[in-house]
Parts: sequence; C-alpha cells; structure tokens
Amino acid sequence: MGGDAPLLIAGASYAGLQVASSAREAGYAGRIVMVGDEVHLPYQRPPLSKGLLTGKTDVAQLSMRPPAFFDEQRIELCLGRRITAWDRERREVLLDDGSRMAHGPLVIATGARARMLNVPGAALQGVMPLRTLDDAVRLREAMPDARGVCVIGGGFIGLEVASALAAQGLRVTVVEAQARLLARAFTPTMSHYVQQVHEAHGVAVRCGRAVRAVLGEGRVHAVELDDGERIVCSLVIVGIGVLPNTEWAVQAGLKADASGGVLVDALGRTECPGVFAAGDCAAMANPYALVPGQPVRLESIQAANDGARAIASALVDRPVPCEAVPWFWSDQHGLKLQMAGLGDAGDALVVRGDMAAHRFTAFHLRDGRVVAAHSVNRPAEHLLARKLVGARVRLTAEALADEAFDLKAALASAA
Ligand code: APR
Repeated sequence: MGGDAPLLIAGASYAGLQVASSAREAGYAGRIVMVGDEVHLPYQRPPLSKGLLTGKTDVAQLSMRPPAFFDEQRIELCLGRRITAWDRERREVLLDDGSRMAHGPLVIATGARARMLNVPGAALQGVMPLRTLDDAVRLREAMPDARGVCVIGGGFIGLEVASALAAQGLRVTVVEAQARLLARAFTPTMSHYVQQVHEAHGVAVRCGRAVRAVLGEGRVHAVELDDGERIVCSLVIVGIGVLPNTEWAVQAGLKADASGGVLVDALGRTECPGVFAAGDCAAMANPYALVPGQPVRLESIQAANDGARAIASALVDRPVPCEAVPWFWSDQHGLKLQMAGLGDAGDALVVRGDMAAHRFTAFHLRDGRVVAAHSVNRPAEHLLARKLVGARVRLTAEALADEAFDLKAALASAA
C-alpha cells in the first residue's frame, strides 16, 4: 500500500497512538508518521476534569508514553501541526503551515473539539471549554481567584468539573438544556440519582434551562438564563458536547454520519481503500447498537483503543474486527460510575443493590437479555455485568434484582 509513503496517522491522542503502537507490535515495518495539532506528546485526558483540578494529579504524570518510546518504535512525530485539507487522488494531506505530506495508508484519528457556546458574551474572559491539557491548565490557574462557577452542560465533562470544583470549596451551578442530566447516556432513573448526588454535595442544578447571555465587561460576572435568573460567577465552564475534527476528510468526499463521524466498518475501514478512522471522529459499525451493526460514534477511550487495534490488525493483513462491548467510566463526588453497553439499548431497567447506599448496578434488559449496565461503586460486579452484556445473557428481572442470585454462575451457564 502506498509505495514508500508512510503510514500517516492524523491525530496524536488515544486512537492515533494505539494504531501506531499496535501496528509496531504486530510487526508493521514501514514508516509511521503521526501528525497532531497539539504541541504535547500524547497525554491522558480523564484527569483533566478530575485529578488535575483537585491537585491529585500533576501535568508531568499525564504522558501516555515517554519520548524514548517514539524513537525506539520509530514513530515520527509532527506535533503542533493541523491537517487542513486532503487531496485524496494524490494521497497527500495539506498542513496548516502550507506543507504537504504524502501518505500510504491513512488513519483519521483527529478526535473532536469542544463545541463553543453561541450566545452574547460567550467570548468574555473567564468563559472556557475543557477539552485539552491547555484548557485544563488554564482552568486550574483561574481557580484560586474564582468567586462562583457556572458550568454549562450537564454531560460527563460538566458534571466531573462540577464535582472537582465543589470539592475545592467553590460554589458551583450546573445549567443543562435538557430536562435531565446526562440524557444522552443515562436513563431517567440514573439521571435523577446523579442529580441528587450533586445536590447533596452542594452543587446547584438547573435542568431544562437555556443560557440567554453571559454578562460582564471584559470579564464574566454572571450568566443569564431564559427565565431571567442570573447566576453570579467569575468562571464559566462550557461542556456542551464535541464536534468531530473531520471537515477536511468529509470535504474530500468521505462518508460521515449526521454528527460528522467518518463511517467505518468493524475493521475501521472507510469506503476509500487504505483509509481508516478510529476514536471520537469515527462512527464504527457496532454489534451492540439498537440495530446490530449500525454505525455508532462513541466518545470513549475504550472505543478509541479497540477501534485502533482493529485498524492495526488490518494493516498487517491479520484482520480482527472490533466487537468490544462499549464501556465508559466517570468519577463524581467520590463515586465510581461505570457503564457498559449503549445507554439507549434497553426496554426495562432492574436495580440490583442499594441506590441510597451508593452501591448498585442498574441493568438494562431488552427482550429479556442484558444489554447495558450502569454501576456505582461496584467494580467487581461491573466486570461481570460487562461480560453479561457481551454475551447478551437472558435473565429475569427477579433474578437480577436478587442479590443472592449468582451472576457468575449465570454467565458460566450461558457460555
Ligand atoms: N446549554 C446547556 N446545556 C447544553 C447546551 C446549552 N447550550 N448544549 C448542550 N447542552 C448539554 C447537552 O444536553 C448535554 O447534556 O450539554 C451536555 C453535553 O454532554 P456530552 O454530549 O456528554 O458532552 P460533554 O460533557 O461536553 O463531553 C464531551 O468528552 O470526556 C468526553 O465523555 C465525554 O464524550 C464526552 C466528551
């Protein structure tokens, strides 16, 4: 594929790095070049909205691999450079410094960027997204002087930030446009549970409210909601979702889903031979979708890594399609939330354990089979739950709700 031109990996985060390292591990011998628009070596993102803000984690601990790894593995890095266009016929990408780079196989792993708030005052000082290491460092620097924080968006980013900032003694209000928190990933039962946890920790939550404007002169001093309420704050964190960085690929004619995720099969292949995509910017055929095999754009490290491994397998002609159960985790107010399967998958919900004691798993069933599970502070049970989802085990609601019922045995007998 591609003569002497390198395997070009567009994007230097989870998916990009995993393609490079898995390809090398599988014996891929050709040149590998990774292009990324951030200046940092690939770094871990979960601590940006958690430990980095509470002081538990330091920037130096975030690198995924030391610099020597890239030399040893012969992975060439081109950092601080953004791909702006792609000449599909000539198999070349154009970079933001005007240079061109030829490619053999091409992996689109450019991830996603934070969606910006589009209301008057959104450009005031003190209004910031949280997506990158630079964003997190900026927020951390602003925290000591903060007098009230308004978090816009009650998704995972917003809620993790709310939790971290409340733990630092800051007054936090979360504004969510939908009628409930985490509506994209959670059932109403789980949304209400999470809201109660936040409120119990002093976070004010406003659901079903739109932001009319951000008020201030130079710097923000309040957020005005559609019902006229003014939330006085000196910091506004915007966590209202992400947009895939795929415009350059879509403009060159690659097919994408409605959200901009490049469509790929279970090997990460686009319709263009030798061109792949993985991570937040890819919509991959997913066996756990409501319609099995439907493309789903998942924003998770697991999806990025598993998609990347499938691509690496295809690159060395030993294809292993991605069939992994989607999973995800979040830490909020000291609770460990773990999710397996897709949130919209079920038609019935069974709670096993004690929600009031913050130790339970909410199982989602569809046609009597386990299709998703959301656990709080039950890591061992969650591992089992993930396997139950993977095997789509048939279980009754009564059995699942009964803590004396042996899930391990049920899994073994289903195998
Ligand atoms: N005002 C208030 N809320 C809004 C607005 C708005 N103008 N626009 C969107 N929202 C809400 C959505 O309803 C949703 O609940 O913001 C939330 C965004 O949640 P996500 O889509 O989950 O995105 P976000 O929390 O920003 O996280 C982005 O980063 O770490 C990952 O897992 C995380 O994949 C997620 C991504």
